Amino acid sequence: MEALKDVRILDMTHVQAGPTCSQLLAWMGADVIKFEPPQGDATRGQLRDVPNADSLYFTMLNCNKRSITVNMKSAEGKQVFVDLLKKCDIMMENFGPGVLERLGFTWDKIHEINPKIVVGSIKGFGSSGPYAEFKAYENVAQAMGGAMSTTGVPDGPPFVTGAQIGDSGTGLHLAIGLLAALHQARRTGQGQYVEVAMMDGVMNLCRVKFRDHQRLTRQSLAEYSVPTYKDMGEVPRAGNDSGGGQLGNAIHCKPHGANDWLYVVVQEAVWESLAKRIGPEVHMPDLVNDPRVATITERRKNQQLVWTLLNKFAEKYTKRELMAILNPLDVPCGPIMSTQDLATDEHVKGRDMWVELDHPQRGKWFNVGMPIKLSASPAKIERSPTLGEHNDEILRDVLGYSGDKIATLKAAGALSKPAKA
Ligand SMILES: CC(C)(COP(=O)(O)OP(=O)(O)OC[C@H]1O[C@@H](n2cnc3c(N)ncnc32)[C@H](O)[C@@H]1OP(=O)(O)O)[C@@H](O)C(=O)NCCC(=O)NCCS
Repeated sequence: MEALKDVRILDMTHVQAGPTCSQLLAWMGADVIKFEPPQGDATRGQLRDVPNADSLYFTMLNCNKRSITVNMKSAEGKQVFVDLLKKCDIMMENFGPGVLERLGFTWDKIHEINPKIVVGSIKGFGSSGPYAEFKAYENVAQAMGGAMSTTGVPDGPPFVTGAQIGDSGTGLHLAIGLLAALHQARRTGQGQYVEVAMMDGVMNLCRVKFRDHQRLTRQSLAEYSVPTYKDMGEVPRAGNDSGGGQLGNAIHCKPHGANDWLYVVVQEAVWESLAKRIGPEVHMPDLVNDPRVATITERRKNQQLVWTLLNKFAEKYTKRELMAILNPLDVPCGPIMSTQDLATDEHVKGRDMWVELDHPQRGKWFNVGMPIKLSASPAKIERSPTLGEHNDEILRDVLGYSGDKIATLKAAGALSKPAKA
């Protein structure tokens, strides 16, 4: 049985941050009702690859949900919303600041309608503080949460990371908050308001950079490959440094294409065997006793030499060959995997992380699978709904509306009028 089988979610989220969260909860078995404006979540039509079909942007973030369209700017639509609030355990949204309040639904009002409901809200910057009124997208959150200033190289521009830590990362944070609040609501009968700001979520994921920020008030950072000094103030960008207690870097391998790299962690425990293995091939047979790299203190100081030697060693090996050499030595390492590598990888396939699905508008497509594996409740991944696919089903089965009532609502435009004139 699915872990969240008896949980119903009124999901007003759109774009990526909120849908990431509700898709995970749906994969854990919750009945997620995607509550959309009549024109649908904007991502249905964004970055389309198949004409007139829901985009991959939408399908990859909205699996296992049911879709209902409701015009919240009509009195009848608002009544459908109120009725659904009474039938759901969780309501969640990631509208711009003040949107829900403008529609007439403050947290107090929702709590009054259903005291047990948990409300989840994602905002760029939360509901308090000088930034509260600003909208946000992924890279705005990466910029303002500390990720961009610490990603890249010191003499280059700040960089965004490919992992969507602002959007999807915030969705993960919200899922944790919602499950905690739901647990409490089931104990106490009282729901609560769960808010996650994207900027806060990114800061949380940059925690180790704030560790280094404070260390800099006392000392330079010996493990950084770029210059640091006491009281320099801001944590510098440090390329592919490991960022942890062990030295690490990306090593370029044969045939030296864009993704022919192996990330290698020169863990203290493996240095001796690593030095013995690479030394002879880089014309330094006694590398293990070389005073410049013999101790961790010296290796930190002279880490450029370590990287130069490893890169030299790697010249005649592919990333997979180098990995095969380092694995028996117990050296932690991993090839830089391209999207193509991952989409065809046996390990990925075996763990159900690249899942083939069918869709009435677009045919066969793939989704990234469920990364959280529950032993007794494995996720069964189903395609995303088409716009309003479950209108009648939800009005009838969840709300108990009669056929006549549904027809009257439709005639009044409660489900179909464009939200904005
Ligand atoms: C993502 C974001 C920038 C998009 O901005 P946007 O496209 O202007 O959308 P907003 O959320 O501000 O507004 C949605 C509008 O649709 C309307 N709407 C939403 N659902 C509706 C429905 N079912 N029926 C009628 N209208 C509806 C809202 O009332 C609002 O209209 P208003 O501006 O007249 O009040 C913004 O939603 C945001 O900052 N969200 C919080 C942070 C976030 O999650 N960002 C990451 C997204 S991946």
